[in-house]
Amino acid sequence: MRDNVFTPPHIVVALDFPDQQQALQFSRQLDPQRCRLKVGKELFTRAGTQVVEQLIDSGFDLFLDLKFHDIPNTVAGACAAAADLGVWMINVHALGGRCMMEAARNAVEQSRHQPLLTAVTILTSMDENGIHEIGLAGTPRDNVMRLAALAKESGMDGVVCSPCEAADLRREHGAEFCLVTPGVRPSWADRGDQNRTMTPAEARKVGADYLVIGRPITASTDPLEALAAIEKEI
Ligand code: C5P
Repeated sequence: MRDNVFTPPHIVVALDFPDQQQALQFSRQLDPQRCRLKVGKELFTRAGTQVVEQLIDSGFDLFLDLKFHDIPNTVAGACAAAADLGVWMINVHALGGRCMMEAARNAVEQSRHQPLLTAVTILTSMDENGIHEIGLAGTPRDNVMRLAALAKESGMDGVVCSPCEAADLRREHGAEFCLVTPGVRPSWADRGDQNRTMTPAEARKVGADYLVIGRPITASTDPLEALAAIEKEI
């Protein structure tokens, strides 16, 4: 395995809960030394900035996964607002284009806090048919490689991708380009709506820095045991 440019913990637990109370209750079982946390659209839309602030106050590094995709001015404002919360990572959609990503970069640079800024390439739930349906030619991999190159040129710290593309991205962009991979499924977990998946050990081996894992942990009857099993595997 390559040198650790991006430090542990490498597991990012996706807190996809319908309310603040469930999310906070769940987080109390977890240890900031062993995992980071991700707040996405469901929890943020229900609970807003308060839950983000409470999780950060509890000592967790927080990935605010709101995948901004709008005109540059709007995305810049949203990124500045997200950075001001003191989160560890934020993201935008690479499909928003160069000007949008450059505006996001500038906004973060002018903020008091400087979260890692990543771009979603192609959602891990999309397969080749889904990509063609929205008018993109080529394979998911072709699109991920093209969008990741654009994201890097536009000042992103890294990309959100499937572990299936991580080895090629690592080869192409080197150790300092952060690879965040959802679509991680231990052999004992359901794939659910994710399409381009790998196990946690495989994902780390091919160069993923941070593994975003939700339901295999949060929907488990014993979340701590699930987390421990994943840690042991990687
Ligand atoms: O439960 P599961 O492990 O599938 O959760 C994956 C998490 O990662 C979800 O919160 C989802 O929104 C997020 N995500 C993703 N694919 C992306 C970007 C983020 O699944 N491309």
